Amino acid sequence: MLEPRPVKDTPSNDYQATVDALYADAATTPMSALCCTSTPPWRLPGLEVPRGMLERNYGCGSTVHPRDLATATRCLYVGVGGGLEALQMAWFLRRPGGVVAVDRVDAMLDTARTLLIEAEPLNPWFDRSFVELRKGDALALPVEDGTIDVAAQNCLFNIFTRDHLDRALSEMHRVLRPGGRLVLSDPVATRAIPAHLADDPRLRAECLSGALPLDEYVSRIVAAGFGTLEIRSKRPYRVLDRTRHGLDEHLLLETIELVAIKDPVPADGACVFTGKTAIHLGLDEVFDDGKGHRLMRDVPLGVCDKTAAALAALGRDDLVITGSTWHYAGDGCC
Ligand SMILES: C[S@@+](CC[C@H](N)C(=O)[O-])C[C@H]1O[C@@H](n2cnc3c(N)ncnc32)[C@H](O)[C@@H]1O
Repeated sequence: MLEPRPVKDTPSNDYQATVDALYADAATTPMSALCCTSTPPWRLPGLEVPRGMLERNYGCGSTVHPRDLATATRCLYVGVGGGLEALQMAWFLRRPGGVVAVDRVDAMLDTARTLLIEAEPLNPWFDRSFVELRKGDALALPVEDGTIDVAAQNCLFNIFTRDHLDRALSEMHRVLRPGGRLVLSDPVATRAIPAHLADDPRLRAECLSGALPLDEYVSRIVAAGFGTLEIRSKRPYRVLDRTRHGLDEHLLLETIELVAIKDPVPADGACVFTGKTAIHLGLDEVFDDGKGHRLMRDVPLGVCDKTAAALAALGRDDLVITGSTWHYAGDGCC
């Protein structure tokens, strides 16, 4: 087993002490308002989730999806919390060491360990060896290069400052095998969060003031080397209200679920799927743009934003390009 890798302290990661203290408390005493949304966690056949895990659901969406997990053999979950999503992933993988779950807070690792042991008698298919808990930091993952099929984080990376986010994304890229998937659930901001809130370590630790606008978040994921991105969901998360937070206007935070694939970034930029669709209405059975996109007449095809823009620029009456739904389900080609 790898030793935890040291993380150098810099003035900009002072907030991490506040994060550590908050999640040590949240490990021992459930905090019902922390991070969560009103969306209930997945129910899976034969999966019984211990109550203590449900009470410590500190995510803001889900990173567990059969599209990613059906063929995976080794997954990484960073920021384990009470272990809910690590257990859900283990439901798909069902093998010793199938899920490696990392956290830097000892109390959280202890709680997750206890709750995973509690899950054993509730779930005849489950063995505690299916989830390997490792002490470590998202900025220096204790995981070997290129060994992971699916790497997930839920409601952690938004806490990081920009330079730390870039390091965390590059660590996820390092540990994924080629073609591997980074699955994120995280808050984003509908406009830039002002410094007086972003610099508040407690608000940041509570996942309320570190969120970036979606386009900046996407750019940073692409800069880390991910060539294909799919946005699966985007919905309201919190409002930073103007009275309590000293703002001119309320500021809506949204929560996104996103998959980034470790493909090479194409020379003309990453393929970012936001739910846009191209529909060919012409007399011909097929429209072929000569760049790998074949549109069957009347059949909507999911296209990335780059392709949507290129097709729209053709100015053809027989091509309809729909807007972003933010619910891309992996059915298109770029
Ligand atoms: C908001 S909670 C999310 C927990 C879990 N993902 C969930 O959905 O319930 C953030 C988690 O990340 C852990 N954490 C905080 N900073 C971390 C870091 N730098 N590296 C690894 N884990 C960290 C916390 O201890 C906590 O378990």
